[in-house]
Amino acid sequence: MRSVKLSVIGGKPTAARGAVVIVIVVQSLGLGAGWTQELPQPRTDEEIAKQEKIYRSRGADVPRGYVTGRGLSDYAELLPAGFCDALGRLGSSDRWLDIGAGSGQAILDYYAPKDDEAAGKKCAGASDKARAVAMSIEDRRTDAWQQQAEQLGDDRIRYLSGKRLREYSPEELGKFQIITDVFGGFSYTEHLFQFVDKVLSLLEVGGNFYTLVPGVHLEHGKDKLGILYLTELEDAAGRPEKVCSWLKKTTCAQVTCESKGDWKRPTELIKIQKVCSDTSVPRMKLVEFEAGYPPSRRFQLDQ
Ligand SMILES: C[S@@+](CC[C@H](N)C(=O)[O-])C[C@H]1O[C@@H](n2cnc3c(N)ncnc32)[C@H](O)[C@@H]1O
Repeated sequence: MRSVKLSVIGGKPTAARGAVVIVIVVQSLGLGAGWTQELPQPRTDEEIAKQEKIYRSRGADVPRGYVTGRGLSDYAELLPAGFCDALGRLGSSDRWLDIGAGSGQAILDYYAPKDDEAAGKKCAGASDKARAVAMSIEDRRTDAWQQQAEQLGDDRIRYLSGKRLREYSPEELGKFQIITDVFGGFSYTEHLFQFVDKVLSLLEVGGNFYTLVPGVHLEHGKDKLGILYLTELEDAAGRPEKVCSWLKKTTCAQVTCESKGDWKRPTELIKIQKVCSDTSVPRMKLVEFEAGYPPSRRFQLDQ
């Protein structure tokens, strides 16, 4: 007999947000590997449509918690140690991709640090700047972006919108020495396995992906009571799995996690270095999704 927790997306949902959870105990014989596909799809579609509305929101309709204008000093504070120095070391032929760039403020700061004392100044390096690509589902370019892009020319800074990361071909994007994601696709996508797989395919060998993920079970940390988890993983048998343990099973990737147990939400700061070209990420699928900023998601590993 095997016990499987099947969380149904319904009402004011998700296990993570204390909603409708149906625990079904079944004979393992009766449940094949594809059981999650039997979840009520219309409900998931509804949540994904709500998420779409958040992306499309403009002006006063943008939810306060959906922040799209963080600058380079915010990135330096939020991303793992070493990000700033690594960005500062890039030269003019190197490339930086910021996935989920919002208004692209971090890239603007990189090209025009306003204040010598600002943390962003260090990340901007001494002289030569890498070419930078900002990616966002929705176009949140500001006048400042347009002006800077005109001055620099399109090959120095580019803004891509209208698609998700997974929808770009390798030829459209090319390769990068540094990829960042600050409350972007890594925290928002409903296709987390495909997302990480794509990021690794876009990194040069030796290149680094810097990101963070809030509301997770920490690799090194005791879970406190009353935490609202946003990203939860389980193995094929339904046992909890941590985001960092999952990532560390990736081949050709060196994964480092910094656990922040004292932040408002338990957060992992994650650095993934691509160490050889044949990367392979353990597959998983979406089991549960609730729109938000960031959304709450539950995934199950294939094996
Ligand atoms: C909360 S904003 C964060 C913006 C910026 N990084 C900041 O910290 O101010 C989320 C961003 O992630 C983008 N995003 C979410 N999922 C994505 C995906 N799968 N591919 C590309 N961009 C994505 C959104 O379009 C938006 O630009």
